[in-house]
Amino acid sequence: MNGLGKKTVEDINVTGKTCLVRCDFNVPVKDGVITDDKRIREALKTIRYLKDNGAKVILCSHMGRPKGEFNMKFSLAPVQARLEELLGCSVAMATDVIGEDAKAKAAALKDGEVMLLENLRFHKEEEKNVPEFAKELASMAEIYVNDAFGTAHRAHASTAGVADYLPAVCGYLIQKEIEIMGTALENPKRPFVAILGGAKVSDKIGVIENLIDKVDTLVIGGGMAYTFFKAKGYEVGKSICEDDKVELAKELMAKAEAKGVNFLLPVDTVVGDDFREDCNFKTVDSTEIPAEWQGLDIGEKSRELFDEAIRNAGTVVWNGPMGVFEMPEFAKGTKAVAKSVADSGAISIIGGGDSAAAVEQLGYAEKMTHISTGGGASLEFLEGLVLPGIAALNDK
Ligand code: 3PG
Repeated sequence: MNGLGKKTVEDINVTGKTCLVRCDFNVPVKDGVITDDKRIREALKTIRYLKDNGAKVILCSHMGRPKGEFNMKFSLAPVQARLEELLGCSVAMATDVIGEDAKAKAAALKDGEVMLLENLRFHKEEEKNVPEFAKELASMAEIYVNDAFGTAHRAHASTAGVADYLPAVCGYLIQKEIEIMGTALENPKRPFVAILGGAKVSDKIGVIENLIDKVDTLVIGGGMAYTFFKAKGYEVGKSICEDDKVELAKELMAKAEAKGVNFLLPVDTVVGDDFREDCNFKTVDSTEIPAEWQGLDIGEKSRELFDEAIRNAGTVVWNGPMGVFEMPEFAKGTKAVAKSVADSGAISIIGGGDSAAAVEQLGYAEKMTHISTGGGASLEFLEGLVLPGIAALNDK
């Protein structure tokens, strides 16, 4: 089954063909060491398929935001080393992207061999989607494979532009992401519960609007809850609050009510007297946040309330932490939700970014149905937006 309607690597003969494979190898690196290689591991299925079927494989990706200049701080060299370990074969590394070295190494590839280009964003033409740059990339290959789900929301030369010059198909990761999340949105096992957190309502407006039409329960936590509190007429003290979104928050709650959606906000809140891990803190009812204090996490009663909704769910989609997750004292609400989702037995889909990191760190990854490799991309998908990197691919 391919809910995408787009051609995949299995719909094209790759044997003996040079394939330019766009991956999202934008992984966290600290002191030259990759601290989370999930995105690399998730790309292996497509790479192995191509290798096993005798394709010549040119991998490419961006890493970080080097602003269009060669800057070895953002080199993909650590990814090459990790790929060699995971694939158990040598992966040639080009010193450039569309330069002499890349072209010579691409031309020298034999069937089943793999190479990696340097960071695409060393050229400013990549993010600007300049056709000449896309054409240069395409000139090294005969088939374009996009498997970079995490970057599919970007209309860049390597994610969209290049599809104008080559037969363009998707890899297994894009296929998996779209099928699992698409099914959850279009045909969810009910009750369908969405949990949204993170600092700002403004980042999640599109997602809330799209999900209100689909879910049975919408759980709101994290910094964005305070804008909803204000919309309900509560004082929020010094909590993060988007005053210009208060009216919108009222409208969203009214819409949820009209649609019969169970709209859950935290009933209690952990407040601190400063934005510091070692501040004074206490738990108060959400209606009683003191003037000089700020909300930093959901309280215990909220964790229980949310747990009840999650425990009875058929499908759960979660994006965004419940509190200031980077401070362990205020990560408890996020941890509790992660545990509830892991124990629920529901089809569980974790949007990328902080919630995915939380689930991985807490050791619940194996218990989730799907942890997306996309942060921004999964959010845009949940908003119901068309992702340019997928739209550009050839239809079945
Ligand atoms: C991500 O990490 O979300 C993707 O790799 C896209 O990166 P970007 O936000 O720098 O475009």
